[in-house]
Amino acid sequence: MASLPQQAELFEDEAADRSLDRDCTTLSRHVLQQCQNFSAEAQDLSALMNRIALAGKLVARRLSRAGLMEGVLGFTGEVNVQGESVKKMDVYANDVFISVFKQSGLVCRLASEEMEKPYYIPENCPIGRYTLLYDPIDGSSNTDTNLSLGSIFAIRKQEGDDLDGQAKDLLVAGRNQIAAGYILYGPSTMLVYTIGKGVHSFTLDPSLGEFILTEENMKIPSHGAVYSVNEGNFWQWDESIREYVRYVHRTEGYSARYSGAMVSDIHRVLVQGGVFLYPGTIEKPDGKLRLLYETAPLAYIIEQAGGRATNGHKNILDLVPSKLHQRTPLIIGSPQDVAKVESFIQNGH
Ligand code: AHG
Ligand code: MN
Ligand code: MN
Repeated sequence: MASLPQQAELFEDEAADRSLDRDCTTLSRHVLQQCQNFSAEAQDLSALMNRIALAGKLVARRLSRAGLMEGVLGFTGEVNVQGESVKKMDVYANDVFISVFKQSGLVCRLASEEMEKPYYIPENCPIGRYTLLYDPIDGSSNTDTNLSLGSIFAIRKQEGDDLDGQAKDLLVAGRNQIAAGYILYGPSTMLVYTIGKGVHSFTLDPSLGEFILTEENMKIPSHGAVYSVNEGNFWQWDESIREYVRYVHRTEGYSARYSGAMVSDIHRVLVQGGVFLYPGTIEKPDGKLRLLYETAPLAYIIEQAGGRATNGHKNILDLVPSKLHQRTPLIIGSPQDVAKVESFIQNGH
């Protein structure tokens, strides 16, 4: 039997091994481990996530130097298909995701918040049967004030040939996503993803240039006393949402948290519990957020972590869009808190 000092040495060695193992758990290695095989699809998924990680690193690098460079901040003067003023960072990040998938043989088509129609990479199409759906910069109103931002992504298998360029095969429920996640540009850059086998987070280690595993199989708390909503819209909501917010006001212990970038708000909810809402308004009954590249990928993450996402009546992942840029109300987060909002919508209390 080992003496006490020998045992202590063994424990130290084991701890050192564990920390080295963790340092070596990069995103692409993790995806392969998750797939539990080295099939063509597993290799594809790992390579896809690797390219998305590269896009995240490029965006993070530019954001980290934004105040030191010309032409990074501010508006372009254009208005996008959503009717929203475009920021220079929206354009840059949109192009980054296209660039990283050129000559990859992986993605044939990309659809984004910033493009009216999908972007095709013809040289990838005979082999690359995947489509990337993405919101290049989420929370762009935070760009010029050095606050948190995000990118949201989802990968779908391309069904059919899409010969007429209408991308009709994308108009199916979010259950068809094969991978989804987000990148959070905060004090550190994090990438959170799922391929339907739990939710895993990674932190960018700038000294290595790699996303290294932070937490595996994340679980959302079943309840959290945080609600996250833009209360400036109070008088534009339906009475049921107003009643829910009045309930929160008179219940002790609740805190309001709203950053203007739902990736960061929903990341907080994932880690600490609570609910994020973007309800419909009188002017916009479907709200602001888009189904295919904002709410469905985030719903997939939160559901995989044990939470829920709904439009108030139906699970977000069961909604079938009728157009590429379709919007939907969103209530997402801890199961108990989402149920509470639902009960106000469906029963009035
Ligand atoms: P985007 O920057 O991609 O248009 O998305 C912004 C979204 C979301 O991130 C955020 O929670 C919400 O819009 C903020 O909108 P309001 O200013 O209307 O609250
Ligand atoms: Mn967005
Ligand atoms: Mn955006």
